[in-house]
Amino acid sequence: KKDVLDIESLEPSEISLILDTARGMKEISERPVKKVPTLRGKTIVLFFQEPSTRTKLSFDTAAKRLSADSISISKSSSSIVKGETLIDTAKNLEAMKPDVIVLRHPSSGAPHLISKYVNASVINAGDGIHAHPSQALLDMMSVREKKGKIEGLKISIIGDIAHSRVARSDIIGFSKMGATVSICAPETMIPMGIEKLGCTVSPNIETCVEGADVVMMLRIQKERQGNILFPTEREYAALFGLNKTRLALAKKDVIVMHPGPMNRGVEISSDVADGQCSVILEQVTNGVALRMALFYLVAGGNRHADSD
Ligand code: CP
Repeated sequence: KKDVLDIESLEPSEISLILDTARGMKEISERPVKKVPTLRGKTIVLFFQEPSTRTKLSFDTAAKRLSADSISISKSSSSIVKGETLIDTAKNLEAMKPDVIVLRHPSSGAPHLISKYVNASVINAGDGIHAHPSQALLDMMSVREKKGKIEGLKISIIGDIAHSRVARSDIIGFSKMGATVSICAPETMIPMGIEKLGCTVSPNIETCVEGADVVMMLRIQKERQGNILFPTEREYAALFGLNKTRLALAKKDVIVMHPGPMNRGVEISSDVADGQCSVILEQVTNGVALRMALFYLVAGGNRHADSD
């Protein structure tokens, strides 16, 4: 069976195949009738145990555009609230013979765990602070679409790296595809040993943004910070927020990205978020095509490149 659990386990050739497939899927979303019968008869379970707007809706839209049957359950509407374990839940889902289970979970490693108990393909829609592979893949798709390549670009990622599964997956993915990744954050938001994933740590936001082809901003994940937020939002905006002055240090054709949700006025000013360099909403559009590609490759097509 084919899972998509993290970016580490994907070869560059597999990433390229996913991005190529997603490009084709995007054409379907641009037709007057945005639906093809490719995955008719397939059942996809969307199990989101944390809130989501973009990821959940785009996986659901992707399933429907490929004519798969998608069923959603959340933590509050499942028997998890009655004390049922994740493994028992997974076994019960499996008993209904789904083809794909998409899981978002607050605990790192949860999708890897359920994968051992189900025959369905498991797609990780974000687990704790660990990984968000479909987000990293749609980010790579967006960069490749805008820049024509990933190799050789300077990608700057700024924000709460410590609590960001997006940052981890993006650092691994972009460096795997030949980009140079520079990160910047308050010291309290940089995990020890992050360089091992394939990035360098910049001393300040100006150095990080200077000469960048892509600037990706991340929000402070207050829900994972506990009660103490340091720096405060005002201090954070002053020291680490992206505004027009700082963006001017990047390359002229820089693109600005953000996985969402944004905290406007904290990590990014509204004029930059809504400005000409921003591709933030195009990332969301690409999220549907990218997730269609993942469903096609795990449930209907061939994930391995011809050369494999
Ligand atoms: N990027 C992202 O994961 O957004 P959601 O939490 O809204 O799904």
